[in-house]
Amino acid sequence: MTTEQQPRAQWLGRWGFVLAATGSAVGLGNIWKFPYMTGEHGGGAFVLVYLVCILAVGVPVMMTEIAFGRRGRGSPIDAVRRVVTESGRSSAWSLLGWMAMLCGFMILSFYVVVAGWSFSYLWKMLSGGLNGSGVDDMVAIFVANNENPFNLGFWSTLVTLATMLIVGKGVQAGIEKSVSWMMPGMVVMLLILIGYGVFSGGFGEAWRFLFSFNTGSLSSEGMLAALGHAFFTLSLASGAILTYGSYLPAGASIGRTTFSVAIADTLVALMAGLAIFPIIFANGMSPEGGPGLLFMSLPLAFQAMPLGTLFGILFFVMLSMAALTSSISMVEATVSWLVDNKGITRRTAAWGTGIVLWLVSTLAMLSFNLGADWTLAGRHFFDWLDYLTSRWMMPLGGLGMVLLAGFVLKSESFREELGLAPYWHALWLFMVRYVSPLGILVIFVDALGIARLEFGVHWPWLLAVLALITLVGELLSPRLRRTLAG
Ligand code: PFF
Repeated sequence: MTTEQQPRAQWLGRWGFVLAATGSAVGLGNIWKFPYMTGEHGGGAFVLVYLVCILAVGVPVMMTEIAFGRRGRGSPIDAVRRVVTESGRSSAWSLLGWMAMLCGFMILSFYVVVAGWSFSYLWKMLSGGLNGSGVDDMVAIFVANNENPFNLGFWSTLVTLATMLIVGKGVQAGIEKSVSWMMPGMVVMLLILIGYGVFSGGFGEAWRFLFSFNTGSLSSEGMLAALGHAFFTLSLASGAILTYGSYLPAGASIGRTTFSVAIADTLVALMAGLAIFPIIFANGMSPEGGPGLLFMSLPLAFQAMPLGTLFGILFFVMLSMAALTSSISMVEATVSWLVDNKGITRRTAAWGTGIVLWLVSTLAMLSFNLGADWTLAGRHFFDWLDYLTSRWMMPLGGLGMVLLAGFVLKSESFREELGLAPYWHALWLFMVRYVSPLGILVIFVDALGIARLEFGVHWPWLLAVLALITLVGELLSPRLRRTLAG
């Protein structure tokens, strides 16, 4: 059933969902990870593959998640349970909702540590704590920042507090209100930073680094990275988008809103590259991955430039806001589940979740100092959280959702909820049945280390397998034919 006992909160404004979901999607992944991945894996060729992954896997999964949320009008656990029981299927499928909720919580447990770096660097910029003359000084500052658990813990605690403060205020007064000024603010800051980059002298080089079509450096590893990143950057299978979808008003088009979010997310990622790399290149530095780019090279580059401190402050304000609008989306699933099922107020739910989050994230934070030697199978707790969520839980959750929607549940539910024209619906169905699952399986094959797929060689094979699975699938199930018939 789509009805429930108490009216559920809904986004107030027309743009409420798009802003909040874009806020969730645009985060550290866009600003920190994407620009570097692009440069590393072949520039324009990588961007193209990434767009294909967003379209073939990201968009269909996102549409499915939003449809689950709006039809089930609840947290991932409740929404999935309601939608599957509506189709007369076992409520055990709600395990998918549990996994999504846990996944969002686990991501947040390490995300607040990285967001804490951003906050602490903002403070360093403001207070002049980043004065150093070379790369070595910057490395020393970064190491010192991590080495002291009280310092690092202070910043991640601050992020946790800010997150819970916003979420505790509610969907409209907390989340919607904060994203409605943070998201436009972020874009304006990004544009100013791009403008600054244009005058820095490194813009041409940055443009070539990001967009020159260099197919030679596009490896199968790059393609896998693009596929995995599509999940992370669109906040999929982590309960965030599904829960935000549960507040979507009935009349809104799921297809259109999904495209808006995916396009905005991709644009911001590309803009971030055009803001960061000109500054790096103008100072004769080489782009590097990981924390080095944002927390060592960039502060050093800002120092060497006119008005650098001012623009450095702007950069870290923008990064902190991007992180915060993502953080709030990761706990919303848990908080809404507690409110709906445990009879407690939103404020209590938020602070209760915050305490548990604080404990787990403190463990993650200790991976950088006291717990530097605590490893399991070569990974710190921090790395385990990242590995389990991005390599396993997100793809597995996404796979479960699309298979449920594609093969298991009544087609009427999704036809009604998505409200697409027949040919668009058929395309969506083809994607969730065959293309997205195949894409996700490729991630698993790689994660399991069964085989290192070489796409360059296996392209025709992959297409042949897709055609074969489609054929068999359609012979076994008449749904797609019915869909095509309208
Ligand atoms: N999409 C965010 C980013 O690119 O930084 C990360 C994220 C947010 C992942 C929310 C999962 C989530 F539920």
